Amino acid sequence: MAKTVLILNGPNLNMLGSREPEIYGHETLADIEKLCTDFGDELGLKVDFRQSNNEGELVEWIQNAGGGADAAILNAGAYTHTSIALLDAIQASGLPVIEVHLSNIFQREPFRQESYISKAAVGVICGFGAYGYRLALDAAAGILGDK
Ligand code: DQA
Repeated sequence: MAKTVLILNGPNLNMLGSREPEIYGHETLADIEKLCTDFGDELGLKVDFRQSNNEGELVEWIQNAGGGADAAILNAGAYTHTSIALLDAIQASGLPVIEVHLSNIFQREPFRQESYISKAAVGVICGFGAYGYRLALDAAAGILGDK
């Protein structure tokens, strides 16, 4: 049976395409979802792609993923830099999580250079725009193939 990768997107990522395109690129979230499902098909992975502006909803999706998904890719948006609740959820789920950011957060404001997600993530991909999601899926396939 195909393994499932949950791809979670946090606040304001529904605005991609029109949101500061010089930082986040011109692709919409729907474009990124298509990129992920197409590449997931090539890799033989089932992709479950979601977005929420609500921290609690993201926490619940991670909690529930512990029972269903095999790995997760998480762009937590601004919650990356603030959310101990997301960190706790990742640690409680035991799920391998790959952290993704469209922008290179290490070249940006100091408050973006701290990530609670990184403390529990298997690895971090940032600065490659939408292509970072493809890199993360490839990494997920590698992790799941090794299991
Ligand atoms: C982001 C970086 C965050 O600092 C920011 O709050 C976002 C998007 C990125 O993908 O580059 O919303 O996660």
